[in-house]
Amino acid sequence: MKPVNVGIVGLGTVGSGTFNVLCRNSEDIARRAGREILVTHVGARRDNANADTTGVTVSRDIFAVAEDPNVDILVELIGGTTVARELVMKAIQNGKHIVTANKALIAEHGNEIFAAALAKGVNVAFEAAVAGGVPIIKAIREGLSANRIDWVAGIINGTGNFILTEMAEKGRDFDDVLKEAQALGYAEADPTFDVEGIDAAHKLTILASIAFGIPLQFSKTFTEGITKITREDVEYARELGYRIKHLGVTRQTEKGVELRVHPTLIPESRLIANVNGVMNAVMVQSDAVGPTLYYGPGAGSEPTASAVVADVVDVARALTTDPNNRVPHLAFRADSLSDAPI
Ligand code: HSE
Repeated sequence: MKPVNVGIVGLGTVGSGTFNVLCRNSEDIARRAGREILVTHVGARRDNANADTTGVTVSRDIFAVAEDPNVDILVELIGGTTVARELVMKAIQNGKHIVTANKALIAEHGNEIFAAALAKGVNVAFEAAVAGGVPIIKAIREGLSANRIDWVAGIINGTGNFILTEMAEKGRDFDDVLKEAQALGYAEADPTFDVEGIDAAHKLTILASIAFGIPLQFSKTFTEGITKITREDVEYARELGYRIKHLGVTRQTEKGVELRVHPTLIPESRLIANVNGVMNAVMVQSDAVGPTLYYGPGAGSEPTASAVVADVVDVARALTTDPNNRVPHLAFRADSLSDAPI
């Protein structure tokens, strides 16, 4: 059977991780997908010493990947919402399936992107957009699809949790830890997204849409970050038997769906109070199964690549079993849903 050809756009921290995981685990991946998956084209403005692209077409003009007739799946890993949106819309118009880790793009332009993808009959998969390597989208959308979901709450920004943990455990300064998070490839290109809660708000918008079947409505999310948290706050909380964690919370209420991200005091005896460093954890309360908890690395090159590649495998598998089959994605019709968030 003909291989599935992948074009990766963006060869930064996550792009190089995705390239390497796809190459290194190609045999296992081919077995799971039912056919070989090849990276045939990379669009990147500069090389990355961590990814050996010998034998692969490399274009400095990233739009060349969206125009390449041999590319079946375009993996968008450039981040941002302007060029990324143009690139993804162009690729969809050209009939390519999309895999992306870009939570800002999905949270802010997902309704438009999904509508275009539905019209064109292509998939848009975005597991890596929320909680890095933790497969929380698939867990809620597929694993919990029998349930009525009451609420979803969790630590969904690895950089913020790394900063709060280092401040609490080692008494380190906020700015010093943020610099380390940037060096480790955890932080966004603009780290104010991490520390001001915007990144978590993007992710919560996506989780709420999947959990409650509502359109993506980022602007309705109450957003507060961790920049006002001092070392003294963290120390006093510890003395009183609490940890300060930055949480995203979304729940169904009588008035609609509540969406909020903000720092929270949590008793140290709770599991989520002990989620440290770059780890993320998401709790879901639903009616049939009850409470479930999902935990793992929320950022970083290969943990995030793990989720990106899983989406590539999903799309390839769907193409293998039935060329018309669609991977389940956020294919809600916005016009059939109530404008629910409060
Ligand atoms: N900057 C993000 C975080 C990366 O720290 O969680 C993963 O989405």
